[in-house]
Amino acid sequence: MSAEPCTYVIFGATGNLSRIKLMPALYHLDLENKLPEGSRIVGIGRRPWDQKKWLEEVREMIGAKVREGIDETVFARFSDRLSYHRGDLGEAECYSGLAATLSKDEDFSKNIAFYLAISPEDFGNVIESLSKVDLLNQEYGWKRVIIEKPFGYDLDSAQSLQKRIGRFLSEEQIYRIDHYLGKGMVQNVLVFRFANVMLEPLWNRNYIDHVQITHAEDIGIDTRGGYYDGAGALRDMLQSHLLQLMTLVAMEPPASMEAESLRDEKVKVLKSIRPIPKSAVHAHAYRGQYAKGTVGKEKVKGYLEEENIPPTSITETYAAVKLFIDNWRWRGVPFYLQTGKRLAKGQSVVSICFRHPPLQFFRDTHVQCMNPNWVLLSIQPEERIRMEMTVKEPGLEMRTRTSSLDAGFRNSDEKAIDAYEDLLLDVMKGDSSLFLRFDEVEYAWRIVDPILQTWAVERDFIPTYPAGSWGPAESRRLFEKEDQFWRTSLTPEWCQ
Ligand code: BG6
Repeated sequence: MSAEPCTYVIFGATGNLSRIKLMPALYHLDLENKLPEGSRIVGIGRRPWDQKKWLEEVREMIGAKVREGIDETVFARFSDRLSYHRGDLGEAECYSGLAATLSKDEDFSKNIAFYLAISPEDFGNVIESLSKVDLLNQEYGWKRVIIEKPFGYDLDSAQSLQKRIGRFLSEEQIYRIDHYLGKGMVQNVLVFRFANVMLEPLWNRNYIDHVQITHAEDIGIDTRGGYYDGAGALRDMLQSHLLQLMTLVAMEPPASMEAESLRDEKVKVLKSIRPIPKSAVHAHAYRGQYAKGTVGKEKVKGYLEEENIPPTSITETYAAVKLFIDNWRWRGVPFYLQTGKRLAKGQSVVSICFRHPPLQFFRDTHVQCMNPNWVLLSIQPEERIRMEMTVKEPGLEMRTRTSSLDAGFRNSDEKAIDAYEDLLLDVMKGDSSLFLRFDEVEYAWRIVDPILQTWAVERDFIPTYPAGSWGPAESRRLFEKEDQFWRTSLTPEWCQ
């Protein structure tokens, strides 16, 4: 599939996402000569900026993120693609004005990708308003709409939103973005599993003891308090990114790498996840909120002292869940998912713990326990795969220790590509394989809804953890066995 020229219309162009991700990603695509000739970018925002001011702002957005300093020749070309449209999303003139601009200038491609980098409550209104001015009409060029997460607030609201936007858009026109799927190492999970034969025969309940997926962040909520306090860690990260990652780890090989085959297999995993009854939420989920503490060497505020957070908030900044997939491959294998802000280190890793051999001949009297084999798929900050196994220690005694094989994902001369670059390009290609189909979103809400509902009524208490720690120690109670522990780091930490 090749990318077709299009007009990218960004709603929320002056906001955080556009600043830190979208504009830098579009510039990088231009730098790599990936933006097809004739592509244009229209930013929509409320601020009364003229073209000159818009270009200055975009320069600043890119300058803060660009990998090797701004290339002036590329920036001049990029600037020619840019225009700014002032408008208030709640006013009809915003859309009629946009339609007039896009139709009067021949330079704007009739293929249009609308990026909704706006507050989720506005998704429905904006789509309906675009339809009213005929901007979703595909007669002369495709029209695609990229919707940021969260898609809905729970199952009911996601279904209502889908019903509403389904009146104006077909499923092929909707690109529900989960930027995690644009990360190189996340895509590598599929390649690792299905382009190698070594591990696939072991990738099941007979050999795997349990699976962990951790997304730890050392950052707090920064200026996003308004959004975050209404969302919390379970909605913000787990319902979307971590469940998506889990589907890639657990799915069956798809018939092909095409969007529908891939998404069919992911949905099968989500459908097979054993529902958590409300009465069992405490055995399957744990939450916490960061209190003040020290991250690295910096003293940081607690969540309740952050900007725009009510002093009595019980929003979780840490969430952990235990899930089981009731299918032939995974029955009985716990999947532990955890995510949190203001943890000790920013680290995303899938940790797969294998079972012990049936007989342990080499039990080490010194260390009390023999380490199991682990496969660690580190997504960030390092991008690598690590396989740990037991070897004999050099010397006269039959002692064992753990040694590892490390496979890097990128050579030193290969640049890291931001997830958004990949995904913005996919939209221009019409490739929706890394975007979510509605049934994926729906099943994901079904899984977390009982937890959300239970936590929503338990309003008088939320456990806290000091910023800079690895989260609430009590989350360990989710583990099925005594010898299980959170494997959040690539460095072995057992038996300490
Ligand atoms: C976003 C969440 O979707 O993902 C943020 O809203 C989170 O709260 C971010 O910080 C993490 O993504 P990344 O790519 O920075 O690890």
